[in-house]
Order: sequence, then C-alpha cells, then structure tokens
Amino acid sequence: MHLGRKTLSKFLIENVSGTRDGAALAALLVDVAAAVKAIAALSAKGALGGATGTLDTVNVQGETQKPLDVLSNTAFVNTFEQGGLVAGVASEEMDEPFPIKAPKKRGPFLAIFDPLDGSSNIDSNVSVGSIFSILHAPEKGEPRTADYLQPGLKQVAAGYALYGPATLMVLTVGKGTHGFTLDREVGNFILTNPNIEIPADTSEFAINTSNERFWEPPVTRYVSECKAGKTGPRERDFNMRWIASMVAEVHRILMRGGIFMYPRDTKDITKPGRLRLMYEANPMGFVVEQAGGRASTGRERILEIVPGEIHQRVPVILGSRNEVDRVVQYHAEYDAGTDKPYESPLFSERGLFRS
Ligand code: AHG
Ligand code: MN
Ligand code: MN
Repeated sequence: MHLGRKTLSKFLIENVSGTRDGAALAALLVDVAAAVKAIAALSAKGALGGATGTLDTVNVQGETQKPLDVLSNTAFVNTFEQGGLVAGVASEEMDEPFPIKAPKKRGPFLAIFDPLDGSSNIDSNVSVGSIFSILHAPEKGEPRTADYLQPGLKQVAAGYALYGPATLMVLTVGKGTHGFTLDREVGNFILTNPNIEIPADTSEFAINTSNERFWEPPVTRYVSECKAGKTGPRERDFNMRWIASMVAEVHRILMRGGIFMYPRDTKDITKPGRLRLMYEANPMGFVVEQAGGRASTGRERILEIVPGEIHQRVPVILGSRNEVDRVVQYHAEYDAGTDKPYESPLFSERGLFRS
C-alpha cells in the first residue's frame, strides 16, 4: 500500500488542470492509464490469456500482427471512443485515422499511439510497451488526416507504458518527465520517479548491429569507436544492449543514461528508417528532451520534423545529450567531407588481420 504517496490522478490535477483544456487533458491521461491497466492485465496472463502466437493479418506496415497488437489497439480505441475527450485516434495498427462519430462525444484532442511496442518479444516473455502522443484537435468538425500531421513540438502530452516485471507509466505534459509505478493490488499508478534526468554522459549504446553493413559511415564510425574501448579514440570501454523493444530501451536510458539508435540504413531504400515518426519517434523524443536528453535523426531534431504522413518512418538517435551531439557532429562532418573514420589497428596497414 502506498497511502499518502502521489497518485497519477492527483499529479495530473496539480500539473495540468490550469492550462488550455487542462482538465480535459488530465481526464484523457487517466483514460490512457485505464487502457494501460487493461493491457497490463492481458499481457501478464501470457499463454493463459490466449493472446500469444501470430495472426494471419498484416498491418499497414506490412508486419504480421500478434493477437496482443490487435487487443491492445482495441483497448485504446474503445477507451478513447467512450471517453469523450478526443476527436480522433490514429494508430500503428490502423491504416487510416479513426474519427469519433456522433452520437459519441468528441473532445479537444487527437491521440496517436503504438498500442504494443516490441511485440516480436511477446512469445519470449520479454518486456513490451505502449507509446502515446496527444495533440490538439481542430476546433470544429471531424478531424482530417492533415490535422494529425503536426510536428512533435506541438504535442501537449506524450509518454509510454512499460509492461515489465513492474508496469510503469512515464509521461510528460511539457514540464519534465515523470514515472509512475502500478500498484497492482490497489490499481493506482503511484509517482515513483519525479523529474527524471538522463545523465549527459554514458558508456552504453543500443543498436541492432546485424544491420551494420547497411549503415551510413557516421554511424559505423561512432559504433566502431565505442567498440574499440579503452584502446580506441574514446579511451574508455563501452557496454551494449539490444532488447528490440524501444520502450524498454528508452526506459533504461531514462534510468541510467545511454544512447539508442535505429539509424537510416540501406536495407530497404524505400524506408528512411525503421521507426515511425508519429507514434514512436515524436512521443519518445518529447519524453527524452523533457528529461534533459536529445532526440535527432542525425541531421535534424526529431521534434521539428514536419510530418508528411501518419505512418512515416524516420531515423532515430536519442538519449544522453553528449553522445547524441557527438553522433550528430559525425553526420555533419561526413556530409561536409571532413570526417575521420576510425580504423581499428587490428585491420590497418600493420595490423594483425590485414586482408
Ligand atoms: P513494433 O513492435 O511496434 O512494430 O516496434 C518494434 C520496433 C522497436 O520497438 C524496436 O526498437 C525495433 O522495432 C526492433 O527492431 P529489430 O527487429 O530490427 O531489432
Ligand atoms: Mn513500436
Ligand atoms: Mn507496435
């Protein structure tokens, strides 16, 4: 029991109710928490809930859906449809945005979400999450697709839920980033991590190195320098992690620092990145910046990108600010032709393994 500690509802009443549509925003985030609790309960049942395995359906991204992808999407859509606080929703799992239609009540916001992030991990019982981004809706009428295409800087709130050993919600309303832990028996989210600050420096990087041959030179340079450790130009050893759940990676970075990269690559030249701007990069960019970190494509601040479509993909480099700044600098040097790629002494002129 955590009597006397701050609940999510109390935090929201204190922090957002005085702003534009603040009371409605507080109520909407309580609705998000309700959907999150439903998904937490469902995912915790594992195979006993009948939600493991793979469906025959493919989403608009061309990715095979899992039962929990669809169930989580339904949990969010139903909550928002009944809640009367949004005018429309857009999701990774829906081709087009879904407007709230009369007689259902429309509210002043748009909700965009990734209902289940890291869903390839479900059957291995590894952490998964949900990511959400809240924007203002147009003042009147049914929202059109163009109304959702606002740069990340326009977000009024964003955050994620992490379904791990504990269920957490981490969010920002533009006044710092704050973490809440679900007290399962009582059903309340309790403020456990107020004002999270990402350490500016780190010795931990996260990237899927199986894509190395498709990376751009500035990313190869950065990662080679990290891997060279004490004997390389960074003069210290680095550690590496890859969970394949962006939510879990971002949460680790919020807790102890680090850099996460899903950079531009040439694996499929029709895709400028793996992750999606509107429901992965933007909300995580907002959360990370509000915790003192940085979020970039390598060439542009994520939150300043003017979106062209709902399911647009972008390169993502985020986390501890000094490391992200370094990777951005490597991109600038590469683009200017002034970069100095790192060459391991093992493979250089007088190296051990010269081919
Ligand atoms: P989703 O499950 O919502 O499609 O997102 C998965 C994303 C992200 O969470 C993770 O960082 C990345 O895809 C993992 O990609 P790899 O399979 O290339 O490791
Ligand atoms: Mn995702
Ligand atoms: Mn997803």
